[in-house]
Amino acid sequence: MLEFRIISLKSRQNLYPKKLGFKWPRITHVSKAREVRFKTPGSTPMNQTISSAPCVSVIVVANEKGGSGKSTVAVHLAVALMRAGESVATIDLDPRQRSFTHYVDNRLTWSRQRGKSLPAPTHVCFDEDADFTTSEDEAAGRATFEKTLAGLCENHRYVIIDTPGHNHYLSRLAHTYADTLITPLNDSFVDLDVLGHVDAETFAVTDVSHYAGLVEEARATRRSLGKPELEWIVLRNRLSTLNSRNKRAVGEALADLAQRLDFRCIEGLAERVIFREFYPRGLTAVDDLDELTLGTRPTMSHVTAQLEVQSLVAALLGPAAYRLGASFLESDAA
Ligand SMILES: Nc1ncnc2c1ncn2[C@@H]1O[C@H](COP(=O)(O)OP(=O)(O)OP(=O)(O)O)[C@@H](O)[C@H]1O
Ligand SMILES: [Mg+2]
Repeated sequence: MLEFRIISLKSRQNLYPKKLGFKWPRITHVSKAREVRFKTPGSTPMNQTISSAPCVSVIVVANEKGGSGKSTVAVHLAVALMRAGESVATIDLDPRQRSFTHYVDNRLTWSRQRGKSLPAPTHVCFDEDADFTTSEDEAAGRATFEKTLAGLCENHRYVIIDTPGHNHYLSRLAHTYADTLITPLNDSFVDLDVLGHVDAETFAVTDVSHYAGLVEEARATRRSLGKPELEWIVLRNRLSTLNSRNKRAVGEALADLAQRLDFRCIEGLAERVIFREFYPRGLTAVDDLDELTLGTRPTMSHVTAQLEVQSLVAALLGPAAYRLGASFLESDAA
């Protein structure tokens, strides 16, 4: 049996207004060496019917390029799914930076400060000692990751894994568990370079690159284990709202790479200051757009960003996302 040591945030539970009936979401820190037992706290979508186990999808958000929007996309996807009534667990595999964990932490703190319930996932963060120094350490880290994931899958419909922007053994392992792999990519040839190289004159793709090789290895591992094919989605992030030569050329190179590497390319998020402003409060564009939630008056940027994330989730999840649209409309009308 798995048990997670809960070391943070629990004390703040008492600070929450009881009348709101919060179930306190737990952030759990896991170290590779620890044998752990999992007690499911359940996720906490507020005022939602929660669909629970079994897990329908492990979604890994990954790219070997740092700063491409992995944590931003992961947190938006998690909150969007929770608002659609799904139970969601999240894992932060970036032990050094922990942006995703801080995002959730900020969200819980803001929720308490505002007296406003905000859905938050069951969250697990791998501690810094998940970095391996010996092969024994790595074996222990792998075992802990696999147990943790299995425990979360028993009790949540979706498990979303945020990964660091570099090649780490836990990240490579996570790829082999991905039913869906989402790779956010800033709209630039610098970012595209992890997938493929282009000709300097024509911008035509000349070769595939190292991250593409890592995904191919994960696919091969899944095949050898008899697991279903991994669906790979490359998501263009921080898109310029203006049509530029760069945007067009990157788009053409991605279309070519999509054929060669078998991924689906979708237009993700535009470059919007608002996505950067959300972090200190742990908010997302799919939260309620009111002053109590935002701490400021909603603007057209909020509305546009929300619509954009809705269509992003629809593009990511297909027909299942229609329910998301309904849930947003309901909450907005309320
Ligand atoms: N669509 C967007 N518009 C504007 N800023 C964005 C957008 N997406 C992400 N950002 C900003 O870009 C920076 C990097 O985003 P994020 O932390 O999500 O990337 P990451 O891939 O998780 O990075 P790392 O590899 O360091 O973990 C952050 O400052 C974030 O707020
Ligand atoms: Mg990150």
